Amino acid sequence: MRYDDKTLVVIGGGSGIGLATAKAFVEGGGRVVIGGRSLDRLEAARERLGPNARAAAIDVFDPASTAAFFDRIDRVDHLFTPAAAYTIAPFDHPDEAALASPFDGKFWGQVRCVRAAAPKLSPDGSVVLMSGAASARPPKGAALYAAANGAIEAFGRGLAVDLAPIRVNVIAPGTIDGDLWARRPAQVRDAAFAGQAAASLAGRPGTEAEIAQAVLFLLTNGFTTGTTLFADGGYSLR
Ligand SMILES: NC(=O)c1ccc[n+]([C@@H]2O[C@H](COP(=O)([O-])OP(=O)(O)OC[C@H]3O[C@@H](n4cnc5c(N)ncnc54)[C@H](OP(=O)(O)O)[C@@H]3O)[C@@H](O)[C@H]2O)c1
Repeated sequence: MRYDDKTLVVIGGGSGIGLATAKAFVEGGGRVVIGGRSLDRLEAARERLGPNARAAAIDVFDPASTAAFFDRIDRVDHLFTPAAAYTIAPFDHPDEAALASPFDGKFWGQVRCVRAAAPKLSPDGSVVLMSGAASARPPKGAALYAAANGAIEAFGRGLAVDLAPIRVNVIAPGTIDGDLWARRPAQVRDAAFAGQAAASLAGRPGTEAEIAQAVLFLLTNGFTTGTTLFADGGYSLR
């Protein structure tokens, strides 16, 4: 695929699946704008991506920061919003802030980004939101996290109706071997990867490049809107 003359904005593009998607887009001749909170992380990513990449700070938990980020962008052909930070607490956890964390830290940030980006989106443009396969197959103790992912998928369907002809889709990955898990303790990471291997048809975690490829399909396929694509190695089936 070639993406010449197109601009992809990736919120959460300084690492992980967002960075892998930005890299694939630049390799196809497109331009990217990556956003995140850590300037060091963004700058390192921008250097890796080369001259067709710009980087700017944004905190999607802050409406003013989100609005300011998009104020500085003229045109958005494609928007991808994997930025998130949350804790996963069981439904009977005593702290309501912990329970709200997947909604506050994953759902609302994406809502803010789409609201701020909407006036800049090209009529033939597209949006991909980030959920996760836990929506379809919740692990034990993750009911609120599963609910937030399900809400993102429903939001995506609603947005596809509201923003048409701009297309909106959702990507729902299984466990991915990449930056998110690399930052976690080895014991936790090994257990997650073993769980994905045992519980999926693919028998392994996915890669960030595999998810990036699926995101680019959703961003660019002109007849696909309002869908959730489960790129999870069959995790949600078993
Ligand atoms: N990796 C997996 O196994 C997996 C599986 C299913 C779903 N997902 C979903 O994929 C998404 C991204 O995960 P990833 O694997 O790409 O990991 P990641 O490396 O943690 O990527 C998250 C990115 O979002 C940015 N970010 C976090 N909070 C932000 C905020 N308030 N404002 C702006 N940027 C923010 C982070 O940078 P800063 O901290 O510098 O802001 C980081 O670059 C998450 O929604 C996660 O639930 C991941």
